[in-house]
Amino acid sequence: MTRDTMGSATTVTMMTAAVARRFGPPQVVAVERVPRPVPAHDEVLIRLRASTVSIADHRLRAKDLPRGLGLLAVVALGVFRPRHAILGMDGAGVIEAVGADVTGFTPGDEVIVMQGPRMGCHAEYVTVKANGCIAPKPAGMSFEDAAALVFGGYTAISFLDRVELGPGTDILVNGASGAVGTAVVQLASQAGARVTGVCSQGNADLVRSLGAHRVIDYATEDFAAGDERYDVIVECVGNAPFSRSRRVMKPGAALLLVISDLPGMLGERIQSRRSGKLVTHTGSMFGAPVMAEIVRHAEAGDLRPVVDRTYDLADIVEAHRYVDTGRKRGSVVVRIGGESAGD
Ligand SMILES: NC(=O)c1ccc[n+]([C@@H]2O[C@H](COP(=O)([O-])OP(=O)(O)OC[C@H]3O[C@@H](n4cnc5c(N)ncnc54)[C@H](OP(=O)(O)O)[C@@H]3O)[C@@H](O)[C@H]2O)c1
Repeated sequence: MTRDTMGSATTVTMMTAAVARRFGPPQVVAVERVPRPVPAHDEVLIRLRASTVSIADHRLRAKDLPRGLGLLAVVALGVFRPRHAILGMDGAGVIEAVGADVTGFTPGDEVIVMQGPRMGCHAEYVTVKANGCIAPKPAGMSFEDAAALVFGGYTAISFLDRVELGPGTDILVNGASGAVGTAVVQLASQAGARVTGVCSQGNADLVRSLGAHRVIDYATEDFAAGDERYDVIVECVGNAPFSRSRRVMKPGAALLLVISDLPGMLGERIQSRRSGKLVTHTGSMFGAPVMAEIVRHAEAGDLRPVVDRTYDLADIVEAHRYVDTGRKRGSVVVRIGGESAGD
């Protein structure tokens, strides 16, 4: 029981969540009982059934950022401790309640959500703007599979919106076996493009099964030293900036820097102008339209979830440990809801 600003007694409803109260290794995450959020007039309250531990959770928890971005990101991340103690960018669940002004959703609707840097999805409940990154869950898909689509699918759709893909397009995906890479490979392949995936030998079959025409094992071959030329390069690793990739870019090609350090970001305008190529570290489609595209592609069979491992929320530290290896294939799913609901 607490008292509100008028001194009246109010009841705080609790929920289970994974909470990181300081930066550090996976063990800084603890499963706790915390107050359940209350939806504002324009928000929905979602009872989450699944989320993922993504590379973003790793980066925010460990303060592991590309070169030069540490100071800049401090505002978003938090200075002394994570700005958002409950991590988790994505999720799938059921609408529990809606704010007074919400018309598009009703309790009982099954949805997917991308919270992005607002985080909060490693919990039983999260509040989300009803006009934000939320969409009906793809029909016939489990919550776990649906959650596995969101982080990589959102990023892939946002970045691929920058380019025209079709038969005759040669696209290279560096880091083809991660959450983003597996989505890019599928979407580009479905668009008719000729896809080359860069991954380790152990992930070659997976990447081929997602639609790659060709696979380059980064341990034995340097794509940037090869004879092939590409219309689009999607950089999902952090080792293929313009200086390395430019040699294998066709005239007018695009380098989509899903991951880049600060010098790469600062240099992209001048690189684009001088080379006549597109170099960019941002996508061009955001918000609800991207969520709708995830659902459309999933229901059309163009985008299927790639689930590496699944953990219960109670075991989330293990999930963080695995993601920290940098070796996950697609998504690491967190199952939520085995615990009792709020009390
Ligand atoms: N800009 C944005 O909005 C945005 C959004 C999402 C993600 N990102 C960034 O994009 C990057 C990719 O994200 P993600 O979620 O796909 O990461 P992820 O799932 O953690 O990527 C893991 C994969 O990377 C592969 N990998 C590791 N080293 C490699 C190398 N040298 N060459 C090729 N593949 C390699 C691993 O395969 P092996 O085990 O076979 O090596 C593994 O399958 C991250 O740096 C993330 O921070 C940016």
